Amino acid sequence: MASVPSLSASLQQRVSTALTAAVPSAEGADPLLRRSDRADFQANGVLGLAKRAKANPQQLAHAVLAELPGDDLIAQVEVSGPGFLNITVADAAITTNLAKRHADDRLGVPAKADPGITVIDYAQPNVAKEMHVGHLRSSVIGDAIARILRFAGERVIPRHHIGDWGTQFGMLVQYLIEHPHELDHTEDAPDAGEASMSRLNRLYKASRVVFDSDEGFKERARRRVVDLQAGEEETLALWQQIVDESKVYFYSVYDKLDIEIVDADIVGESGYNHMLAETCDLLEKSGVAVVSNGALCVFFDDILGKDGEPVPLIVRKADGGFGYAAADLSAIRDRTGELHASTLLYVVDARQALHFRMVFETARRAGWLTDEVTATHLPFGTVLGKDGKPFKTRDGESVRLEDLLDEAVARATAVVREKGEKIGLSEEEITENGVQVGIGAVKYADLSTSLGRDYVFDLDRMVSLNGDTSVYIQYAYARTRSIFRRAAAGQSPVAHPELPLAPAERALALHLDAFGDALAEVATVYEPHRLASYLFQLASLFTTFYEQCPVLTAEGGPAEVENRLFLCDLTARTLQQGLTLLGIRTPERL
Ligand code: ARG
Repeated sequence: MASVPSLSASLQQRVSTALTAAVPSAEGADPLLRRSDRADFQANGVLGLAKRAKANPQQLAHAVLAELPGDDLIAQVEVSGPGFLNITVADAAITTNLAKRHADDRLGVPAKADPGITVIDYAQPNVAKEMHVGHLRSSVIGDAIARILRFAGERVIPRHHIGDWGTQFGMLVQYLIEHPHELDHTEDAPDAGEASMSRLNRLYKASRVVFDSDEGFKERARRRVVDLQAGEEETLALWQQIVDESKVYFYSVYDKLDIEIVDADIVGESGYNHMLAETCDLLEKSGVAVVSNGALCVFFDDILGKDGEPVPLIVRKADGGFGYAAADLSAIRDRTGELHASTLLYVVDARQALHFRMVFETARRAGWLTDEVTATHLPFGTVLGKDGKPFKTRDGESVRLEDLLDEAVARATAVVREKGEKIGLSEEEITENGVQVGIGAVKYADLSTSLGRDYVFDLDRMVSLNGDTSVYIQYAYARTRSIFRRAAAGQSPVAHPELPLAPAERALALHLDAFGDALAEVATVYEPHRLASYLFQLASLFTTFYEQCPVLTAEGGPAEVENRLFLCDLTARTLQQGLTLLGIRTPERL
């Protein structure tokens, strides 16, 4: 494992040293190095510096230029415009740096030396309820961020805060007591998850009907809630049965989504029951929360309702019941106190932004969140239908996640089949690729939009071979694999720093070199869409390279063939690593 600094980072270092040499007071100034169309890089930092030093920017730029050592890295520097430095990197330096990446199984991307512990709250569906597109976003984004952070060396602990508690369970359990065979089933169907969900749906609907029409049942259901909260044995066992039945369903959906969820990480609202009373006590004793109209509340000066009245966070309701906030506050105590998290992340719908603002502020006042811990809500936007409104079925119901995934796979399979038949894929390969392309398409469409934005769920666009889609990127990967299958014996990837690079090779190579820098940024700002756009750009640059630079029949002879194969191989590994971090598979033949 060897960390390989990017050429851009090395250059940044050089220019920064030259800046300080030219203007000693500029110590630590950012040279503002950017990729540029004119040369490889442009440093814009001289302008601001000249302004501050009241110097002539062009003169200053020339002074900096004079301090830049002529070495293996820089092929050419010139001052342009009002005082920019245009820098061209030596071809040999590019190839040599990439060869170091190629020799490393992490592609030269460093892992943190002093990792923190990040607890990430994502994939939190609700028990006895169908999963919908909102749960898709939390799961897909959370999974990608968890993978990216792990790759960066962070210690990551997932927490799936499922909705497994609340008054509706009194109703469900009571109904089960009165209809003991409601959840019975004889054999496990092949689609066990779907069967589970349909049993739960039946239970939910049936108990709802009685609850709404039979006062006696309503009362018995209410008493059942009390038993549940008191941890009465029979009640708890039936509740557990409902939770377990739901998990069968969740797991089947996550399996389809190709997202791994581990049982030990599923700590739902009920997982904090034993802490709720204490959490309230601590808040009340410290004065962070006060009783108002019978409820235990936390108030905020800057959080007011439309009427100008303060909107409190209700930790305990007037009837003594604990709410959603009590569980979240207890979860923070657990995550910082027991799990020793240094970072808390919450991948949750933007509509819960106020809830998290109030919960974090309360936890800070109570001392459960200290300055050493950052807590961040990563809010995501809504999935829209083609009409631009929140995605619903024709009869206004929320769309079942499974149906969407099945449809995506069906569409993708049709696309895969069309191309696949031409290249002789077997029926088995077509089916397998259809799944990987379809699920990849759904994930990519979600991940390539910046988190906070809404997006339209449009399968036609998602599985299109042209445009910013995962299929396009998967296709670029498969193309690299096909080149290697066609290579003759003895044609293998070898770096040749002595060879000059064609423009399409340079562009591809410099982008490959930036992989680690891109990942570092993504892991700091928690924005997977930046990785998506890095990969899309990489696939595009590869496509151009492939069109302009014949690989196996390169005119420059065997060394050029080897060098191009080397670029193909590094591209393949970078695409694969990047897509893996987004939770997307890379079929070998498409
Ligand atoms: N189960 C909730 C929902 O479906 C999301 C839970 C989010 N996480 C949390 N710690 N509150 O809306």
